[in-house]
Amino acid sequence: MSFRGLKSKVKSLVDNAQNVEQTLLLICELLKSEIPYYDWVGFYFKNGDKKELKLGPYAGSATDHTIIPFGKGICGQVAVSNKNYVVPDVKAQDNYIACSLTVKSEIVIPLFVNGENIGQIDIDSNTLNPFTKEDEEFLEFVCAKVAVLL
Ligand code: SME
Repeated sequence: MSFRGLKSKVKSLVDNAQNVEQTLLLICELLKSEIPYYDWVGFYFKNGDKKELKLGPYAGSATDHTIIPFGKGICGQVAVSNKNYVVPDVKAQDNYIACSLTVKSEIVIPLFVNGENIGQIDIDSNTLNPFTKEDEEFLEFVCAKVAVLL
């Protein structure tokens, strides 16, 4: 499915949401199943007042990294920088937390509610350098849609 078609599906899931966790899970499953190079799709959220992220709904293999301190790994860095982070080749990163040996690249987009960075969507790919500006723009759309539920 095209990004355009996926945007309309995401909008419909959010517009018809009855349960936040379930809707986030459906979005993860949609993205993972429709975009061939999205091999793991998940949300992390700020864990209360702690300076750490906690894993939310995800689609893909289970990960040991259910808590990530701010500043650690790609996710922890985005919690601090408030900026998109596109990693074309995870091997080139020093501050990276490996979830699976098959992962070659990663993209993390922060999720803002009322201007505050409260979490993020994280995509792992088994393909090298697959992400373009279109992925960034699409995932920003997803985060902005999801924000209205939070
Ligand atoms: N690779 C991430 C950790 C989360 S897993 O990809 C699910 C990171 O470096 O922050």
